[in-house]
This record gives sequence, structure tokens and C-alpha cells, in this order.
Amino acid sequence: MTNRKLIAGNWKMNGSLAANEALLDALLQGVGAPGCDVAVCVPAPYLAQVQGRVAGSPIALGAQDVSAQPQGAFTGEQSAAMLNDFGVRYAIVGHSERRQYHGESDEVVAAKTAAALARGITPIVCVGETLAEREAGRTEEVVKRQLAAVIHVNGHCISEIVVAYEPVWAIGTGKTASPEQAQSVHAVLRAQLHHAASEHAAGIRILYGGSMNAANAAELLGQPDIDGGLIGGASLKAPDFLQIIAAAR
Ligand code: PGA
Repeated sequence: MTNRKLIAGNWKMNGSLAANEALLDALLQGVGAPGCDVAVCVPAPYLAQVQGRVAGSPIALGAQDVSAQPQGAFTGEQSAAMLNDFGVRYAIVGHSERRQYHGESDEVVAAKTAAALARGITPIVCVGETLAEREAGRTEEVVKRQLAAVIHVNGHCISEIVVAYEPVWAIGTGKTASPEQAQSVHAVLRAQLHHAASEHAAGIRILYGGSMNAANAAELLGQPDIDGGLIGGASLKAPDFLQIIAAAR
């Protein structure tokens, strides 16, 4: 089974009203009728701006995080219901920068995944090992533990999530996992999904993220278990992001 690929940009904490306008102008002009699904995950203050620009286009709106809580005294957080108000289709959950700088545990990531699903938002659940973990031969153990935490989210089918394998050592470093390195971890994740939900495993998209760019995208996306990309730096440059989209068919 071949999944329609998903190319999702993760703008992280970058952009401004003016810079976003220019980036979106170029993306909307160049995206055409893409052969894959496309999303941009933007900083929360710009959700309304980007919603207005991408409405009716092939570009879906994404958020970079979602609260595990439905509402209340959680200063600084955004609930899934609020994201819904802005037409958010995807939310990144458990990005390594959230795990690392905000202490997000597997349990928190699972709760956020459930909160997104409860509001019809597709969580893009990130997993990935650090360099120390890879060097210690613990890659498989780490990604399997992280994926296991979200596999049995109450009342929801695992097929509603998107998984993103993002080796921490490859994020923003220019050091991409080789296509073989990435594929071998994707195959491990696929097997784990198969074990947990055999009838759905093939249809769950597993994205690769970590220094994917216009030059290396085609080869990564050509691997049998790589169903798309979560793109940081290169998603801020319209020509690069458009080239990655073009490579995903
Ligand atoms: P990068 O970031 O493409 O800049 O490495 C990817 C990510 O963190 O999602």
C-alpha cells in the first residue's frame, strides 16, 4: 500500500506578519495541485493570519503544540478546541524541542495526542533518539518506547495519527540521517504499528524529519516506509519547500 505523502512545514518560532505574507504568497503561487498533502505548522499568534491565507488552497493549517487540558487555569497554553476555531487540521505533538526544553514526558505526549484526537485534529507525534542514545545502540528501544505511549489512546484508532521520526541529532544540524538509516528506523516503527493494529498499520503515515531539504528529499521520500517529511529550516524558504513538495509523489 502506498500512502499519499504528507509534507508538513514546521516554522518553529520564526516569522512575522510581513515575512509570513511573503512566504505564503510564494507558496500559494507555486504549490499548484500537489501530488501530496501539504501543511504548515505555524506559531500560535499567526494561526488567524495563515488560516485566512490558506483557506481554499491545498495547504492545510497546523499548530506546533496543543494542551493536554480541555480548558482552564493553564497560562500560556492553547486547547485543541481553540485550535479548532482557527481551522487547524494538524498539531505537532512531542517534538524533541518540547520534550527537551519543556520536560514533556511520554505520558504528556500521550495526553496531548488524546486531546487533539478528541477535537478531530490529527496529531503529528514525534519520536527520535539523541546522539548519545544512538551511539549507545539504544535507538530502537527509545523510539519504540515513545511510540508505545501513543499507540493505545482511549477510544481512538491509531490510524488517526501521523508519526514523525526525527532523530534529535539531525534536527537543525544539517546532518541528515542517510536514507538507509532512516528507512531502518521507519521499518521498526511500521512493524510496531503492525503488531498493535495490523489492519491499519500500512495506512499510518510515518514522516521523516531532520535536515530534510531540497537536495536530499527525493531519496529520503523514495524509501518504502517514508511517507512524507516534517520540515523545519527548509520550510521557511519557499523555493526549497516547493521542491520538497514536488519530490513527494
Ligand atoms: P529541521 O527541523 O528540518 O530544521 O532539521 C525539523 C524539525 O525539527 O521538525
